[in-house]
Amino acid sequence: METIETPRKKRALSCIQSTGTPTLGNYLGALRNWVMLQDEFECAYAVADLHAITVRQEPAKLRQQINETFALLLAIGLDPEKSLLFVQSQVPEHAQLSWLLSCHTQFGELSRMTQFKDKSAKHADNINAGLFTYPVLMAADILLYQPDVVPVGADQKQHCELTRDIATRFNNLYANTFTIPEPYIMKTGARVCSLQEPTKKMSKSDENQNAFISLKDDPDTIMRKFRRAVTDSEAKVRYAEGKDGVNNLMEIYSAVTGKTLEAIEDEFTGKGYGDFKTAVGEAVALELKPIQERFTELMKDKAQLEALMKSGAEKASYVAGRTLGKAMKKLGFVILR
Ligand code: TYM
Repeated sequence: METIETPRKKRALSCIQSTGTPTLGNYLGALRNWVMLQDEFECAYAVADLHAITVRQEPAKLRQQINETFALLLAIGLDPEKSLLFVQSQVPEHAQLSWLLSCHTQFGELSRMTQFKDKSAKHADNINAGLFTYPVLMAADILLYQPDVVPVGADQKQHCELTRDIATRFNNLYANTFTIPEPYIMKTGARVCSLQEPTKKMSKSDENQNAFISLKDDPDTIMRKFRRAVTDSEAKVRYAEGKDGVNNLMEIYSAVTGKTLEAIEDEFTGKGYGDFKTAVGEAVALELKPIQERFTELMKDKAQLEALMKSGAEKASYVAGRTLGKAMKKLGFVILR
């Protein structure tokens, strides 16, 4: 008898580092899209805490940030019933596969990574081996879950491409082991820029607090930061080359409200930057309010958070263990039953 196979759901995987509170850039470039994908795809999302120690961390603060980042994933609307949510360090297969993959990654490939170049310039006193092999751990994060897509912001495209190269190399040497994933980068919000230096990416590690909106910023802080955002002297809300500050604010407004850039230009015809900045600030504050409320509630119940981490780690370890076992077997290791 012929059986009709139901096509398997496509898979998505992504992670966020547990260094500081995520920003509006993280949210618009990645986190929000993770939530949108969770009905259509089989999703796995993680707090990448092993990645965080490539720069020095204070242990107590790291622990707090891992808990907070995990709570934030729940607060934005990721549902552990639908998506696999876990903390990277609680699933040892990530570090294990990372070693296997590092033996299939070239020094030259890692030397070309722009994030490594940027971070080693910024932390010149601590250019450790982990900072250099960071993208291999990221490749392991991805490949363990055999995803079709990796929803990220534009800055992670290069790492995703390296992941594809490593996976293809491994598959060619040892027969098909890994799915070759595609980066999944949305048009709006893929690169949210600094409010103070709008040619630079918005980053939570920026020393200037006014440069980024943290997902924990209260409405007054959000309004103040947008009011101080760098624009230009033209005083006209329009999207054009050379107007980086205004372009960035228009993109943020568009991503949050769903309005097109043309509609935004029309809305602010004849109005100054003051009105525009107020509108952007209000829209962002409104978007973040329910997330912040849920976050506060979730942080009150540590036992619940820990239980969710535990079940997430167990499920993740099962999936990851299967891929790791397959890769080890292909490489020729002796697998005990
Ligand atoms: P991280 O923690 O820096 O950022 C998490 C996600 O947010 C996106 N993002 C942005 N998007 C738009 N505008 C911005 N200003 C902005 N800043 C950050 C990032 O592109 C990312 O999608 N290496 C990764 C973490 C990671 C990972 C992985 C990602 C570890 N393992 C496996 C995907 C798959 C990182 O540092 O992201």
